[in-house]
Amino acid sequence: MKIIAGNWKMNGSRSGLAAMQKSLGEIDTENRVVLCVPFTMIDGAGGPAAIGAQDVSCHDHGAFTGEVSASMLADAGAKYVIVGHSECRMYHGDTNETVHAKAEMALSVGITPIICVGETMQERDAGKTLEIIESGVRESAPNDGGDVIVAYEPRWAIGAGITPTEEDIADAHKLIADILDSMGRGGTPILYGASVKGANAAQIMSIPHVDGVLVGGASLKPDDFIPIIMATK
Ligand code: 13P
Repeated sequence: MKIIAGNWKMNGSRSGLAAMQKSLGEIDTENRVVLCVPFTMIDGAGGPAAIGAQDVSCHDHGAFTGEVSASMLADAGAKYVIVGHSECRMYHGDTNETVHAKAEMALSVGITPIICVGETMQERDAGKTLEIIESGVRESAPNDGGDVIVAYEPRWAIGAGITPTEEDIADAHKLIADILDSMGRGGTPILYGASVKGANAAQIMSIPHVDGVLVGGASLKPDDFIPIIMATK
C-alpha cells in the first residue's frame, strides 16, 4: 500500500473535483489516495479520495485576515494538510519554525500534516542537500502529538520535468527515515514529490523508503493521475 497524494495548487474547480472523485471510484486500488485542493473545494465532492488542504494558519483564531485555521479545515472535512510546501516557503515566507507550528495546529484537531522538505538548486549546487533535509525534518516535524507524513520535494525539480537520480532519492529518503527514527517517529510515511508522472511512478515507488508520492501537475486530470495510482499496488 502506497500513499498517492495530489496537490492541485491553485488549479481546478468543484465540478472538476467531482469528476475526479467519480473517475477514482471506477478503479480498484489498495493505495491511499489523497487530493489536496484549494480551500474552496474542501467541502466539495465526496468520494474515494480523502481531501486535504494546502496550507493552514499557525494561529488558532482571531484577527488574521486571509488565513484559515486548522479547526476550520477540520470543520470543512479536511483529513490532511500540506505544510511547508516549497511554494509557501518561497512566496509566503514559511520557515521550519512556522511549519512546525502549522503541523502542531493540524495535529491538535486530528488532521495529518504532510510536512514538505527539500533543497533549492542553489543549496544543491553548494553541496547542502542533506544538511537542508536534516534541518527541515528536525525543525519542522513536531516530536509528538500524532502521526505525520513527510514529503521530500527537491525544489529545483518541481514542475521542471526532471527528477533526481534514483540513488539521490534513495539517499534522501534513507536519511529522512533515520532522522524520524531518532525522533521517535519510526515508520512515518515518506513521500517523494517533484515531476512524478505515470511513466516514472513505478520506478520511483520501488526505491527503498519511498512510501508514496506527492504529485502536482499530473494530479489534475484522471488520465494523468490514475496511471500513477495504478503504477503500484
Ligand atoms: P509537480 O509534480 O508538478 O512537479 O509538482 C510537485 C509538487 O510541488 C507537489 O507538491
